[in-house]
Amino acid sequence: MRITYLGHSGFSVETAGLRLLIDPFLTGNPSAPVLASKISCDYILCSHGHDDHIGDALEIARRCGATVISNFEISEFLGEQGAKTHGMNPGGTHDFPFGRVKLTLAHHSSSHIEGGKITYLGEPCGILISSGARTLYHAGDTALFLDMQLIARAGIDVALLPIGDNFTMGPADALDALDILRPKVAVPMHYNTWPLIAQNGAKFAAEAAVRGHAVRALKPGESLEV
Ligand code: NI
Ligand code: MN
Repeated sequence: MRITYLGHSGFSVETAGLRLLIDPFLTGNPSAPVLASKISCDYILCSHGHDDHIGDALEIARRCGATVISNFEISEFLGEQGAKTHGMNPGGTHDFPFGRVKLTLAHHSSSHIEGGKITYLGEPCGILISSGARTLYHAGDTALFLDMQLIARAGIDVALLPIGDNFTMGPADALDALDILRPKVAVPMHYNTWPLIAQNGAKFAAEAAVRGHAVRALKPGESLEV
C-alpha cells in the first residue's frame, strides 16, 4: 500500500492495483501538490460533507468514472449531480474490489453551504480500509473520543489523524488518540493549510516518539509505503 499526501486531509492510496483518493481537496487548497484536473482514480472516499473534504470529489468522479464512497446523504447529494456513488453509514462494512471499507464514528459536523444556505449532509465519519494485509484508518475531522478503543481492534497499520486544532483534535488530543489506536505508523493531517490550523508536524512526531509511537509528518506530495 502506497500512501501519498495531497495536503490538508487528502491522500492518494495505491493498493491492489487500484487508486483511491480520500478527501480530495485540491482546488482552493494552498498546500495542494497537484491540480485536481491532473489526478485520476478508481474510488473516492469522503469522510464528511465539508468543502475541504468533498472538495474536488464530484469533478474527479465525473471525469474518471470513479465511485464515491461516503455516508448516505453525501452519496445522494453527489449522485444527484452525476457521480457514481456508494452510500454507507457508521458501523457498516462493504467489500470493494480493492478491499473492505468500514465507516466509523467521528465527532464533528457535516454540511454543505451554497449561496448562504446550509444543507446538512449526514453524520461525519472516519474510514477504515483493509486492503491486502494492511489496514488504514483515516480519522476524518474528529475530536478525541474513547470509542477509538473499538476502532483500534481492527489492528491499524497506518493512522491518518488531524492535529490542526480549532475544528478537530489538536496535537495533545492526537497524542492521546495514538495511545488508544496504537498504529504501526501515523501521519498528521488537517494542519498548516491556513494560519488558523498552523501546527508543527516535526514537533508532533518528536512528542509521539517519546510516547513510543512512530509518526511520519509527510509534506504534500510525499509518499509512504506500508
Ligand atoms: Ni470538517
Ligand atoms: Mn475539515
